[in-house]
Amino acid sequence: MINTTAWNRLRYTAYAPLYDLLAARTFCKPRRTALGQVDWELGMRVLLVGAGTGLDLPYLPHEIETHLTDLTPAMIKRARERAEKAQRDVECRVMDAAALDYPDEYFDVVVMHLILAVMPNPQQGLAEAYRVLKGDGQLCVMDKFQPDAQPTGLGRRALNAFTSFIATDITRQATPLIQNAGFTIRRDEPVLMNGLFRALLATK
Ligand SMILES: C[S@@+](CC[C@H](N)C(=O)[O-])C[C@H]1O[C@@H](n2cnc3c(N)ncnc32)[C@H](O)[C@@H]1O
Repeated sequence: MINTTAWNRLRYTAYAPLYDLLAARTFCKPRRTALGQVDWELGMRVLLVGAGTGLDLPYLPHEIETHLTDLTPAMIKRARERAEKAQRDVECRVMDAAALDYPDEYFDVVVMHLILAVMPNPQQGLAEAYRVLKGDGQLCVMDKFQPDAQPTGLGRRALNAFTSFIATDITRQATPLIQNAGFTIRRDEPVLMNGLFRALLATK
């Protein structure tokens, strides 16, 4: 099964022109719910990881310092245009979630929406989020996950070979993934498709 960082960059370069058409409307409410779980304060420094075209930007408060990163230059270009259009001061950088170019304990909030199921090594992505978050930092996750208590059946494995190739893994389990990275899960809400998509808030 192909699920590498190089493949992700290639396919998201191809998807970039269509991404908003497919993802903008579907994830309005999940984004609002996920970001609504964060305990926001003026002046917070916030990192969006694997942020795509920046569809989260309209749901973020204005009075924060926003850093937006993604692996794919074509996505970052669109995110930058979105930020400019909205007259938001956002630092947009091409960056691999598995190797964040930021110091330890730099951010108050890290947002990982629809990235943990996409990147080949989500444990490494969460380890990096943990590293760059301050001691009282908050991790905001929204993604599709297999139910925590349910082992991966044969059918799901077979389907996963296909979904992973075109878009996303459907066999990852949120609770062990996030807890094994050292986080404590504070909120966990089903947000779409009967709980396939969940919004989680975790702290260090
Ligand atoms: C499904 S999109 C989600 C985009 C955005 N977070 C959203 O909620 O709309 C997945 C994004 O992850 C990016 N991506 C994939 N692998 C990555 C990695 N290793 N590091 C950073 N971004 C990555 C892709 O370029 C793509 O923009």
